[in-house]
Amino acid sequence: MLSLTRLLVLLLATGIGASGRKNKYIVPGATWYDTDGQILSAHAGGIVEHEGRWYWFGQNERQEDKDLFSGINVYSSDDLLDWKNEGRALSPVPGTDIAPDLVAERPKAVFDPVNKNWVLWFHSDNSTYGLLRQGVATSPNITGPYEFQKAFSPLGGTSQDFGLFQDVDGSAYALYSNGDDPAAHDNLISRMKPGFTDLEEVVYTFLDFDLEAPAIVFSGKRYYILMSHKTGYRPNNVVVFSAEKLAGPWSIQSYVAPSGTRTFNSQSTMAFAVNGSHETTILYCGDQWATAKDLYESTYIWLPAEVDDRTGSFTIGWHDLYSIDVNTGKVTYPEGQTYEAEDGVVTGSAYKTVCCAQHSLETHCDLIQVFPNSSITIDNIVGTGNPQWVSLYYHNPDGLCTYRRYP
Ligand SMILES: *[C@@H]1O[C@H](CO)[C@@H](O)[C@H](O)[C@H]1NC(C)=O
Ligand SMILES: *[C@@H]1O[C@H](CO)[C@@H](O)[C@H](O)[C@H]1NC(C)=O
Ligand SMILES: *[C@@H]1O[C@H](CO)[C@@H](O)[C@H](O)[C@H]1NC(C)=O
Ligand SMILES: *[C@@H]1O[C@H](CO)[C@@H](O)[C@H](O)[C@H]1NC(C)=O
Repeated sequence: MLSLTRLLVLLLATGIGASGRKNKYIVPGATWYDTDGQILSAHAGGIVEHEGRWYWFGQNERQEDKDLFSGINVYSSDDLLDWKNEGRALSPVPGTDIAPDLVAERPKAVFDPVNKNWVLWFHSDNSTYGLLRQGVATSPNITGPYEFQKAFSPLGGTSQDFGLFQDVDGSAYALYSNGDDPAAHDNLISRMKPGFTDLEEVVYTFLDFDLEAPAIVFSGKRYYILMSHKTGYRPNNVVVFSAEKLAGPWSIQSYVAPSGTRTFNSQSTMAFAVNGSHETTILYCGDQWATAKDLYESTYIWLPAEVDDRTGSFTIGWHDLYSIDVNTGKVTYPEGQTYEAEDGVVTGSAYKTVCCAQHSLETHCDLIQVFPNSSITIDNIVGTGNPQWVSLYYHNPDGLCTYRRYP
């Protein structure tokens, strides 16, 4: 059962992700194509900026790859819109701790100035998530290929979802949840030793918070840590804490997105600042996971954050699409024409109704309940004659909130 709330027709000509075309927009939740016209596969990723380019590392998940660990991909971009496939940063090696039947997840890279190496960190595990280790691989080149070094129990402990943060002073930190054992359920920030292939000490513990998918971003004044709750591949309300120092004290937590949207159906994986000439824009980057069986269908939810260092607030709002100028740091949102579903003509058993509960996404919430063999027709939609985006806003009352938009 579906309830259509409105239709937004964005009156602009745009490359709709077709192969070879230049992407003009970031479209949260849409299939993202690389510069070869292939589906961009970099899930649970990490981004690092190096010499004017961004490098996006992520899990390779493709329909044709049946192995548990099929590799870590790396893409590069100078505008955050068009990403060039730089190949496999790390490939599985049978008989080692990165064998194809094992797990290497949530990759993040950092440059080690001591050995002049790039170091790729990830969550290293077996198929039943019983090992709970961290893994490292190194390469003299940012794009690899990376050579696997080791998988280990950090500071003798356990580690599940992995994040990495490099501070402005150059020091690097591992962020991780320590698993689901009765004695665990914590989230840790641990400083790395020089060389960045091992940990030195825990600088902060979120004791018993039982969160995962950690990412830290620094606004210039405050640190923000994002983490999700533990609901597997189903999204939940990602929370944020802020602090003036990584060692805390950290604020209490609050939701990043309107409650009920499950962070617009996403789980945190990274956040980073685009430090432009006019403003610094922080982007929240999450994974919109498909089911464990169809991980390759997962997409990315990237949204600009609204950050207030005075109050420590960090929130994201929904945008169908937007563009970002990496030189100025400015984000622009294309405008469109909205057509309300309640103005449409219905047939069959469809009928007009209202939301009975307050709905955080809609100020105005008349909607049309659509059943099988019923229809709604919205007339007089005027297009430009060029390709355009159409966003369909709907509410699925079968679940708490399913909020998807199809271009
Ligand atoms: C994963 O590791 C744990 C801990 O060693 C072990 O108990 C479990 O059997 C392993 N799972 C598989 C599939 O080998
Ligand atoms: C690093 O990348 C450069 C440029 O692509 C290449 O010429 C060089 O062989 C690479 N080095 C290694 C060790 O892979
Ligand atoms: C952005 O760059 C300016 C100028 O280099 C610097 O003062 C500022 O701290 C930077 N902000 C962040 C968030 O890195
Ligand atoms: C919908 O209409 C078609 C054609 O009249 C009919 O065959 C089908 O059984 C109907 N389905 C439902 C769910 O009512």
